[in-house]
Amino acid sequence: MKVAIMGFGVVGGGVGELLISNAENIAKKAGEKIEVKYILDLRDFPDSPYKCFTKNFEDILNDPEVEAVVEAMGGTVPAYDFTKRLLLAGKHVVSSNKELVAKHGTELLKIAKEKNINYLFEASVGGGIPIIRPLISSLTGNDISGIIGILNGTTNYILTQMIKNGKSFDEALSEAQEKGYAEKDPTADVEGIDTCRKIAILASLAHGKYVDSMNIPTEGITNITTNDAKYAQAMGYSVKLVGICETAEDGVYARVCPAFINLECPLASISDVFNGVLVQSDALGDVMFYGRGAGKLPTASAMVSDLVDVAKHINTNIRILWNESEDGYLKDSGEQKFSYYLRLSGTPDGISGKIKTIDGLSDEFAIIVDPVTEIELDEMLKSEPFAGHTVLGKLRVI
Ligand code: HSE
Repeated sequence: MKVAIMGFGVVGGGVGELLISNAENIAKKAGEKIEVKYILDLRDFPDSPYKCFTKNFEDILNDPEVEAVVEAMGGTVPAYDFTKRLLLAGKHVVSSNKELVAKHGTELLKIAKEKNINYLFEASVGGGIPIIRPLISSLTGNDISGIIGILNGTTNYILTQMIKNGKSFDEALSEAQEKGYAEKDPTADVEGIDTCRKIAILASLAHGKYVDSMNIPTEGITNITTNDAKYAQAMGYSVKLVGICETAEDGVYARVCPAFINLECPLASISDVFNGVLVQSDALGDVMFYGRGAGKLPTASAMVSDLVDVAKHINTNIRILWNESEDGYLKDSGEQKFSYYLRLSGTPDGISGKIKTIDGLSDEFAIIVDPVTEIELDEMLKSEPFAGHTVLGKLRVI
């Protein structure tokens, strides 16, 4: 099977590397050799073992020998236009582009179905962790009631450093950037946007109906302080940025937020750049997927597996489809009840419950409150005995 790679950065380069280093094994599994005929990139790579670079997309589009294309460009421009034209031309596309899948997945999947080809995107969520395939294949006998995912390696690294090593947010972020985990502009990571796109994809797959990431309430990790990290440790919790999707009666709730995770939950022990996804379903119960959610070869691993799947289904559309969204399908997650961690100014006199004070942190305390909706929490904080205390920190408890 002749393929092209679009975008020869970290991920595209990883796909090229894996297709050489594991060539024999991949050919055995695919039933044929997978050969790179073009690599599209505006930059030059004189030292690459590949000598098939082009700067012209039309070379790929117009070559009938190219059956599948790896899209590792990121962003939606020009990736959306290129992907759509490739699919319309009858070429399979495999992608790591969560932004594109979250925004235009409905349309691109529909074209792939109509053309009896495939648009696969295992690498778009959880990097190398198999999570898309379980949702569309291994778990289809189940009704999925919830998905909770640590889906962003950069923020998980930062939070791990804050909790385990007492680093400040800024120190941990600089370290993540030095190690090449975080982007130079880490906004999409630290503001939760990347996690939001990923949980939107998983929520859309869970029930076959599109959930628009733009409508998911999203909060990042920039307001978390070292004091919150100290209380978490002292009270037996970890702090994680999570994407949550919960099935409702006639729709789903979804949200992205930093949360206190009880140390008994398997998600609490997922540290550093690792990702983890907990899927809750009726027949199987809880199942957890864990591994490297980012990086060159882990992401390439998922993309090459998608290419192998394309080779095995060259004349068949693997059924991945979600329907258009419906008004009211994504529920107002403010209605959901959560237990909360609150860090409050003053002393806890007159307040009862799970309270914690820490030596050295004077004139403040933390409390875990029983499950309430957002409105109930606001009302509670305005009334006695909480009125008069300033909220210094507030996180949901999962
Ligand atoms: N910036 C992302 C992360 C890359 O840190 O997880 C993988 O999607």
